[in-house]
Parts: sequence; C-alpha cells; structure tokens
Amino acid sequence: MASDSIKKTIQVALGVCLVCSILVSAAAVSLSSRQAENKQLDKIKNILSAGGIDFTGKNPQQLYNEKIKAVTIELETGKILSEKAEQDLLRPENFDIKKISGMPKYSQAIPSDKDIAGIKRMPSYMVIYEVLDSKGGIDKYIFPVHGKGLWSTLYGFISLDNKLQTVEGITFYEHGETPGLGGEVDNPNWKNSWKGKKAFNENGEYIIDVLKGRVDPSNPNSIHQIDGLSGSTLTTRGVDYLMKFWLGENGYGTFLENLRKEGSNEKI
Ligand SMILES: Cc1cc2nc3c(=O)[nH]c(=O)nc-3n(C[C@H](O)[C@H](O)[C@H](O)COP(=O)(O)O)c2cc1C
Repeated sequence: MASDSIKKTIQVALGVCLVCSILVSAAAVSLSSRQAENKQLDKIKNILSAGGIDFTGKNPQQLYNEKIKAVTIELETGKILSEKAEQDLLRPENFDIKKISGMPKYSQAIPSDKDIAGIKRMPSYMVIYEVLDSKGGIDKYIFPVHGKGLWSTLYGFISLDNKLQTVEGITFYEHGETPGLGGEVDNPNWKNSWKGKKAFNENGEYIIDVLKGRVDPSNPNSIHQIDGLSGSTLTTRGVDYLMKFWLGENGYGTFLENLRKEGSNEKI
C-alpha cells in the first residue's frame, strides 16, 4: 500500500510536470512573435525619445515613419550605403547589431588595446537615424552605441544636433545592470543631464567625461562632464568608455568627419 502510494505520487508529479511544461512551451512559442513586435516597438520608442520626440498619446510607429530616416553606413569609410548596394541583412529594417557582430563577413574583431567598450567584436556597418525637420532637412542624428557595464552589455542611443556639437539626448533600451545602482542609467533626470552638453572639441574629438563623482558647475569643463551614478563606479565607467569608443575614431569618427566636411563645403 505504502509503495503503491509512492508510485502514484511520482506518477501524478510527473504528469503535472509534463502538462506544465507543455503549457509553458506552448505559451513561449505562441507569444514569441508578440515579444519580437514589442521589442521592436520598444526600440522605436527609444529612438524617438533619444531624438527628443515626444510620443505620448501618439502612435510611435507612425511618428517614427514620419520623422525618422534610417540609413546604413560603412564605419571604415564613413559612407552611407546606397539602398541598392545593401545586402538584405544590412538594410535598416533587418539590421540586428548582435547578429551582425557574430558574422565574420560583416564584422571585425577589435584589438584589445582599442576595445575600451569591452565588446570584442563590432559590426563593420551600423544603422544610424536622421531626425527630419518639417521641411525634410536633417535636424538631429541618432547613433546606436553599446558596451560593457558591470553585469551586462548596455545597448542605447546618443543623439546629436545637426551641427554635431551638442548632445540632444541619450537612452538605453537594453541592459542588465542592477536596478537602483547601475540601472540608474534609465533615470530620466540623469538622462536629461546629458542634454546640451558640448560633445566635441574644435578638432572634432569627443570630449565628454562621465565622472566618478558629481560635476562641479563652477568648473569651466562642466559643459563636457556628466555626474557618475552613485555606488555604481563600474557601470559609470562602462557608459563613459562605450560613448568614447563609438563617438571616437574606431566608431563613428570617419562618418562624423565626413559630415563636418560636407557641412563646411556647403557654407563655401
Ligand atoms: C548586489 C549588488 C549589485 C551591484 N550592482 C552594481 C551595478 O549595477 N553597477 C555598478 O557599477 N556597481 C554595482 N555594484 C557595486 C559594485 O560591486 C562595486 O562595488 C562598485 O561598482 C565599485 O565602486 P567603488 O569603486 O566606488 O567601490 C553592485 C553591488 C552589489 C552588492
């Protein structure tokens, strides 16, 4: 009788496990396309908010279609790829940073002495976003950035004005830092503190420092400085380095230089 009830107990437990695992698997499969859609929508919202476009009460996808033009650039030459020349995977709508970073054809290893963002490999191409003004001109640029924090790779955007001088906004759409510590990268006040900072010197070199402590407003360099996240030295350093990497010569440097030259030619 005793062994009978143990057998039954095990059978019932196994049966429950089987039913639960079928339910969980079915839910995961049926929800995966909705999760992918939500992830894409979240990315769109982050692009809009990095570009300072308020989407409250509006349809983010529609606003994105109206205001944002995504283009693929080749990082080494800083040139925009023509739509015809693009391989399917490099088209803005298909571009996936993680996938491309793993494909030798479209990515490269970063020498360790240059890998300040701690990402080991980088895409040879990136999709950047132009924020259009009401006449169809370019009002701002939004650049994707990523790099290691303490626990995770942070993925986000930094937006610059069309003169390539001032930060218009930053945002991270994916990271695994600790809420309340490194997770304060999502704090709206901290993100707002980037707005208006002067990002480059007269030679076009990126010069923003995210400090270990707080910015002293009386310091003349404070226009290039951001408060560190308290108790989160490693995430702070990660954000500092990932921005320096992507806005420097191994990231968007050549593209930025090309844009500056185009800008000065237009003025002549
Ligand atoms: C549970 C836990 C979570 C933490 N999460 C973070 C984090 O997300 N980012 C971070 O930089 N530090 C985090 N820290 C703190 C780091 O471990 C480390 O102490 C700190 O970054 C180093 O700062 P310090 O040089 O000022 O001591 C965490 C610590 C603990 C105990």
